[in-house]
Amino acid sequence: MGSKLRIGIIGTGGIAHNHMRSYLQMEDVEIIGASDIIPGKARAFLDEFGLTNVPDFTDNDKLLALKPDGVSVCTYNTQHDVCAIAALKAGVNVLCEKPMSVTLDQAVAMSRAQVETGKILTIGFQPRYGANMRMIRDIIQSGALGHVYYIQTGGGRRRGIPGRTFVHKKYAGVGCLADIGCYGLDMALNSVGYGKPVTVSAYASDYFGKNPRYYRGEFDVDDFTCALVRFEDGLVLDFRMSWAMHMDTMGDTLFLGTEAGLKVKSPNPDVNWGGAWDGGVGDIYLYKDEVGKQVEIKIPKVEEDNKKNFFFLKCRDFCDAIINNGPSPIPWQQIIYNQAIIDGIIRSSAAKHEVDVVIPEI
Ligand SMILES: NC(=O)c1ccc[n+]([C@@H]2O[C@H](COP(=O)([O-])OP(=O)(O)OC[C@H]3O[C@@H](n4cnc5c(N)ncnc54)[C@H](O)[C@@H]3O)[C@@H](O)[C@H]2O)c1
Repeated sequence: MGSKLRIGIIGTGGIAHNHMRSYLQMEDVEIIGASDIIPGKARAFLDEFGLTNVPDFTDNDKLLALKPDGVSVCTYNTQHDVCAIAALKAGVNVLCEKPMSVTLDQAVAMSRAQVETGKILTIGFQPRYGANMRMIRDIIQSGALGHVYYIQTGGGRRRGIPGRTFVHKKYAGVGCLADIGCYGLDMALNSVGYGKPVTVSAYASDYFGKNPRYYRGEFDVDDFTCALVRFEDGLVLDFRMSWAMHMDTMGDTLFLGTEAGLKVKSPNPDVNWGGAWDGGVGDIYLYKDEVGKQVEIKIPKVEEDNKKNFFFLKCRDFCDAIINNGPSPIPWQQIIYNQAIIDGIIRSSAAKHEVDVVIPEI
């Protein structure tokens, strides 16, 4: 491709800034426009980056009519499906922020739009670009653990309700589950190779968000959730996530295998906001038997604390996929299972009993 990649940004709130900063570091990329439903917001966003001649829109279709090579969809969760589908149907490749959507139906519609159009749809789980996250996956994929039959994924924040659009159901759909829970799910399930979930039994609560001692303002989502998820191949996942609690961490992440076990300590439970799996990784230990003895091996970690670099890598990977005409770096074929679990957790915690997960043919 001789000329520059032409990229647009849909939704110019908080995270759009990280997308913009990443794209602006790329010499082969040009920003051709941005849109936001709030009048003036896309203009101010572009001006903030000195892009005073780049057009702004309140109507996404007008941005899509410029035929960008790709767009970052950075709207709040309840608008991911609408914006991603419109872009795909306009023939535009999409990097959609995480979580993929709110409901499984929305994720199915997005996946179908990808299949119909053949355009790239990638979901923005940037922690995957961390060297330690990759190492965890590599260890498990090497077969060192044997058959993995149980995963516990913990973490969570002691005090970390983000506020803003994240705490309103009409914008975010769900609370800590969609904000940071989806990362915990991706960290665990990408490591073992996403399998098909079949049942979910979940609980969600909002004791901190609804208590003015911990949060002031309107709040109608979850701040804590836990679930037991069964997969078609027999794997069981014990999942917990919190935005706020009277505890330092909901535990380490544990992979139990027939040959060895892997413990990934909570990223940083000493820091109120540090315990989520959104880029950080604690110490990593392998447990196994060696010459008849039970041994514990501390795996040396790669020093990295540059979450912003992960962000650049995810945007770069999207651009490279456009240049190379695919494949999607983080495809719906994996993330639809992440979304099916989130959907199952929403339904099960509302129904107060286990629910089946049925994923329609795409
Ligand atoms: N990957 C990460 O590290 C990370 C971090 C924070 C947020 N996020 C994700 O990014 C998304 C946005 O989060 P945020 O903090 O930027 O939210 P935000 O509320 O600050 O920004 C969202 C923007 O989208 C606009 N918008 C809504 N619907 C639109 C539509 N149909 N068309 C155009 N614009 C529309 C809103 O007006 C708002 O300006 C969420 O899905 C969130 O989960 C990801």
